Amino acid sequence: MIVKTSFKSLALIAVLGFGFIAPVSADEDETPLSEQMDELSGSLKRLRRAESVDEKVALIHNAQGAVVKGLAFLPSGFEKVKDAKELAKMTAGYKKMTGQLFVLLCELEEAVLAEDEEKYDEVYDKLKDIKKEGHRTYKAEDE
Ligand code: HEM
Repeated sequence: MIVKTSFKSLALIAVLGFGFIAPVSADEDETPLSEQMDELSGSLKRLRRAESVDEKVALIHNAQGAVVKGLAFLPSGFEKVKDAKELAKMTAGYKKMTGQLFVLLCELEEAVLAEDEEKYDEVYDKLKDIKKEGHRTYKAEDE
């Protein structure tokens, strides 16, 4: 039973990619996380000009993929956190907010599929809010 549970946990970690989670130096202009953030941002910008449901869904899938890939990394600012307990707490909070971002992108996808513009606008506003909150909390100041 114990063996089974730990195997399950390991499989989950492998699937989610947390096994390689690590902060990347703020000295690098473009971090692996910022590359995925750029991909996310670019997909959402292109969404404004997309016309068909298929085109919109494909861009949202791309945005979702970037969020999942980004989960393999931690914000560069975390490098400066030396207290292990504090770092663990910040890491949990960061992953939680990234999960919320992913859920919002799924809700955006549902709104597109339902062709529900009101819902789409509502979810899009929440995406803007979470971006603001995520950057305020986790993005290091430019040096
Ligand atoms: C719609 C939502 C979001 C968009 C469009 C977005 C977009 C971006 C962009 C364009 C950058 C700059 C990349 C560069 O310097 O080239 C960035 C950086 C960053 N974003 Fe976001 N972001 C979003 C949500 C979030 C959320 C929710 C979090 C936290 C949970 C977050 C955490 C960060 C961090 C930490 C960086 C700096 C990269 C690093 O430390 O390596 N972002 N984001």
